[in-house]
Amino acid sequence: MKILVTGVAGQLGHDVMNELNLRGIEGVGSDIAEAYSGLDDGTAVTTMPYVKMDITDKAEVDSVLNSVRPDAVIHCAAWTAVDLAEDEDKQDKVRLINAAGSENIAKACAAIGAKMMYISTDYVFDGQGEEPWQPDCKAYAPLNVYGQTKYEGEKAVAENLPNFFIVRIAWVFGKNGNNFIKTMVKVGENHDALKVVNNQIGTPTYTLDLAKLLCDMIVTDKYGYYHATNEGGYISWYDFAVEIFRQMAERGYEAYDDKHLTVTPVTTEEYGLSKAKRPFNSRLDKSKLRENGFTPLPDWKDAVKRYLDELLS
Ligand SMILES: NC(=O)c1ccc[n+]([C@@H]2O[C@H](COP(=O)([O-])OP(=O)(O)OC[C@H]3O[C@@H](n4cnc5c(N)ncnc54)[C@H](OP(=O)(O)O)[C@@H]3O)[C@@H](O)[C@H]2O)c1
Repeated sequence: MKILVTGVAGQLGHDVMNELNLRGIEGVGSDIAEAYSGLDDGTAVTTMPYVKMDITDKAEVDSVLNSVRPDAVIHCAAWTAVDLAEDEDKQDKVRLINAAGSENIAKACAAIGAKMMYISTDYVFDGQGEEPWQPDCKAYAPLNVYGQTKYEGEKAVAENLPNFFIVRIAWVFGKNGNNFIKTMVKVGENHDALKVVNNQIGTPTYTLDLAKLLCDMIVTDKYGYYHATNEGGYISWYDFAVEIFRQMAERGYEAYDDKHLTVTPVTTEEYGLSKAKRPFNSRLDKSKLRENGFTPLPDWKDAVKRYLDELLS
């Protein structure tokens, strides 16, 4: 089986490529840059084939898919800067990447009979209430431009392919990019007090763990909508930060212990408005994974531990 991965220079694409390599599955990485040399960490991405593909360029997408002829595409490329996406002058570009770019891939997959997996987000919902979102829920009501364009991407995939995987994830952290854990480790080191939002609830997703699940899924024909985050229950960003600092202190980094750092829970309102509206309820119900025989991701606290091992090594 040959799999083309988009967004390989990002957090998730990087780990998906490595996972394919570990499993001996033929992978071809792609991203917008002319060339990609991978992380300077000796990981497999550096040694696997790479092809430049701007997903907004339909002719280029058609040409790459026709020459690579993958059996499946795991589509991880996206505009992911949520606040920047709100800027009037950026919105066309965000839509071009997340909606039109995904449509280009869906159409090219349909033309060559390849499977497609689209990575999406809980931001396609309105984030109200406390009930976990079900994967087959159709009550789309995005709160911001990023969520709206990711929803348009989902729609393009569903309209252009008879069979597809749409996997919604949330609160992503991986080695190859910026994320909440990296930010907390950085700011925690030189602050003695921090405020963190405690009324947005969800569960983090470690790209290393998610990559394994996506590779398990793509070789099956158990198509459909899925939710996938780490296990371990629903938490707030405050809970997430406290656990990161606890683990850092446990490793002997004094700057993060309770004597050196006070973390105060605050509401989204108290914290101050961000440009993009954020959902309060990012709870994603993942029971469909088990129902379909897939192994869920490990506990998020264990994921934080393994991520810090990776980050600090
Ligand atoms: N990060 C999160 O918290 C989160 C949460 C929920 C869902 N997701 C979804 O999960 C997926 C993976 O996210 P991630 O965090 O790994 O993203 P990421 O680190 O931002 O990586 C995305 C990659 O896509 C590339 N890209 C952008 N425009 C492109 C284009 N026109 N053609 C080809 N490649 C292009 C980016 O390149 P440049 O950097 O050069 O633009 C980047 O390398 C995305 O679909 C995202 O929407 C992410």
